[in-house]
Amino acid sequence: MTAGHHLIIITGANRGFGASVAHTYLESSEVDTLSYVLVGRNQAGLQTVLDTLKQTGASTNATVKGLVVANVDLADTDKLDANLARIQEAAKQLRDESLQSKNVITKSILVNNAGSLGDLSKTVKEFTWQETRKYLDFNVVSFVGLCSTFLKDTLAAFPKAQYPEHKTVVIGVSSLLAVQPFSNWGHYAAGKAARDRFLGVIALEEKGNNVKTLNYAPGPLDNEMQADVRATLGDKEQLEIYDGMHKAGSLVKMDDSSKKLVLLLKKDEFDSGAHVDFYDV
Ligand SMILES: NC(=O)c1ccc[n+]([C@@H]2O[C@H](COP(=O)([O-])OP(=O)(O)OC[C@H]3O[C@@H](n4cnc5c(N)ncnc54)[C@H](OP(=O)(O)O)[C@@H]3O)[C@@H](O)[C@H]2O)c1
Repeated sequence: MTAGHHLIIITGANRGFGASVAHTYLESSEVDTLSYVLVGRNQAGLQTVLDTLKQTGASTNATVKGLVVANVDLADTDKLDANLARIQEAAKQLRDESLQSKNVITKSILVNNAGSLGDLSKTVKEFTWQETRKYLDFNVVSFVGLCSTFLKDTLAAFPKAQYPEHKTVVIGVSSLLAVQPFSNWGHYAAGKAARDRFLGVIALEEKGNNVKTLNYAPGPLDNEMQADVRATLGDKEQLEIYDGMHKAGSLVKMDDSSKKLVLLLKKDEFDSGAHVDFYDV
């Protein structure tokens, strides 16, 4: 661990892959100070994750700071502006503290992890535009809002001329579906593909500002979302594959996958805007 300070904002950090990334980032940390902004709907779950991070920090001599931004329903666009402001306000508070303590943040990371499956029982001809809009509001519109506000505020706080060492990273937790279509995944595939391409655009637009983006597909994880896939997927052929993986114990463990993501970030050799799959590295 070397001297340094990372700010990491994670959506859907209360459980699943988001919580795993939060813990792994600390356990494999290259720097001695981490400031977390944990975002989601579930106050108690987010607080438990933050408390555990602080305990881990205390036992590993890392300084862990953090704030929970709860009751954030990313599907609710009526409250999106207010919620994005709350998230960036929390990040600002941690940034200001870092400036006052002279342990200035050296890297700011946004992990766009929260996501939903959509209704996997349906094929596209059964979709209504209303459910499509609802799906995209959460998985694309709020994602764009998160990226935009994060970039705007972070780059304003750390202008390159004044903070040439500061790095900004935007992660999209992606999926094989972003690059390959499968039946019954219409909404999910469209959402993930849009997110991937969006981060590709940011990579180009901000390459002069020490900004990198990464679309990381974590593999088929052994968790609640996969259980939902097995319970709802309408396509028999794929269902057999997922059932088979579950029974054979070959679904990917969340911590194994989050470790690969954290290592990618640590090495910092990935091409900005790239799509990297768990099985590729
Ligand atoms: N599981 C897999 O096999 C797999 C494979 C490839 C990619 N991924 C991607 O990995 C990411 C994490 O998924 P996961 O596997 O950890 O799924 P998960 O266990 O279902 O967790 C989803 C997370 O998103 C949050 N969330 C759901 N709806 C939300 C909303 N309206 N507003 C705010 N937060 C909301 C959940 O919070 P609540 O507790 O409040 O519901 C939870 O923290 C997703 O982007 C997913 O697409 C997963």
